Amino acid sequence: MECPRGLAGVVVDQTKISSTAGAHLTYAGYPIEELAHASFEEVVFLLWHTRLPSENEIAVFRHQLVSQMVLPAETVRLLLYVAKEPQHPMSILRTTTSLLGTTNDVDHDEPPKILAKMLITVAAIIRIRANEPLLEVDPHLGVVENFLYLMTGKRPSKELARMFSTVMILHADHEFNASTFTARVVASTFADYYSCLTAAVCALKGPLHGGANERVFEMLLEIKEQGLDPREFVEDQVKQKRKIMGFGHRIYKNGDPRAAILKQIAGKLAAKTGNSEYFEIQRQLADYMLQRFNLHPNVDYYTSLIYHCLGLDKEVFTMLFAACRTVGWLAHVMEQRNENCLIRPNSEYVGPTDRHYLGEQIQKRGHA
Ligand SMILES: CC(C)(COP(=O)(O)OP(=O)(O)OC[C@H]1O[C@@H](n2cnc3c(N)ncnc32)[C@H](O)[C@@H]1OP(=O)(O)O)[C@@H](O)C(=O)NCCC(=O)NCCS
Repeated sequence: MECPRGLAGVVVDQTKISSTAGAHLTYAGYPIEELAHASFEEVVFLLWHTRLPSENEIAVFRHQLVSQMVLPAETVRLLLYVAKEPQHPMSILRTTTSLLGTTNDVDHDEPPKILAKMLITVAAIIRIRANEPLLEVDPHLGVVENFLYLMTGKRPSKELARMFSTVMILHADHEFNASTFTARVVASTFADYYSCLTAAVCALKGPLHGGANERVFEMLLEIKEQGLDPREFVEDQVKQKRKIMGFGHRIYKNGDPRAAILKQIAGKLAAKTGNSEYFEIQRQLADYMLQRFNLHPNVDYYTSLIYHCLGLDKEVFTMLFAACRTVGWLAHVMEQRNENCLIRPNSEYVGPTDRHYLGEQIQKRGHA
C-alpha cells in the first residue's frame, strides 16, 4: 500500500466540531456563509458546545470572556521586555503562550479564561511593538470590539466591528488543519491546555500555514512599490520555483469558501482606507493565477489586506490568525480529551536493513 504523503486524504479521527466535506465549511453543521452573520461569542460557544447558546447564555459567556481579558503582572513585565526585541512577533507569542502556562493555574484554567488571555496577549504584543501604552478592557463592549480597541487604541464603529467579527469567525476553526492537528497530538498525551496551544502556535507560524498572510502582503508591497506587472511577478516567481503565497489549498481545489467572503470585506475596507491600489493588484493576481494555474486564493490572501487596512504591521498578521484560531484549538483539545486515544501513527521504514553493529565494528578494528 502506498503511503499518503503529508497524511493527504487520511481520516485520522472523528469530530463534531467542523467539517470541510464536499469543500463546504461548516461549524457543528452550520454553513460558515450563515455563521458569518452571527456574533463571535455565539460562534465560540457553538464550537465549544456544538449547539448555539440562548440569549442569556451569550450574555453570561460574553461577560466571562471580556472580564478575563487581563494579563498577570508577571506576563506584562516579560512582554515589556521581550516584545520590543527584534524577534518575530510569532516567536514572542510562542514564548508568551508558554509563559501563560506558568503564571496561570495550569491544572485548572478553563477555555474561556485561556481564550481571553490569548486575545489580550496578542493585543499587548501589538501595542508594545508600536510603543503604545497597554489599555484596559471596556466592560461595555463585546469581545471583538474590545480586541480591536486593545490593539488599535480606537473604539471601532459598528460596521468595522461587524466586518472584523466575520473575519474572526471565518478563522475560528478548520477541522484537522496542521496547527489544530498539532494541538490534538499534544492533547492526546493529556498535556495541559497551554502546552497544546504553544505547540499549535509553532505549527501556525510556518509560511505554508498561517505565516502565509504576512508573505502575501510582502508580495503586494513589492508589486506596488516597484510598479511591477502582477503577471510578470508570477512568472518570475515560478521561474525561481517559488510558490505564490495566498494561493492553493490542500482541501479546496475549486476555491476556499472563506476567501469569497473575505474578498468582499477587503474590497470595502480598502476603498474606505485609501488602499484600493492593493485590492486592484489582488484582483489582477487572482485572475492570472486562475487562468495560468487554476489556483484560487485561500483564507490568507484577502485577510492580509484587511489587516493592513486596520493599520497593522505585516509582521503581526499571523498573530491575529493565532488569536482567532485559538477558539478552534481549544475546541479540539476539549474534544480530544473527552474521547481520547493517544495519537501515535506508524511510518513506512525505507532506510537500509539487515545491518549489524557488532560485525561492522569488528571489521573496522580489523582494518585499523
Ligand atoms: C497550501 C498548500 C501548502 C497546499 O499544498 P498541497 O496540498 O500539499 O499541494 P502542493 O503544494 O503539492 O501543490 C500541488 C501543485 O500545485 C502547485 N501549487 C500549489 N500551491 C501553489 C502556489 N501557491 N503557487 C504556485 N504553485 C502552487 C504546486 O507547486 C504543485 O505543483 P506540481 O504538482 O506541479 O508539483 C500550497 O498550495 C501552498 O504552498 N500555498 C502557498 C502557501 C499558502 O498560501 N498557505 C496558506 C494555506 S491556507
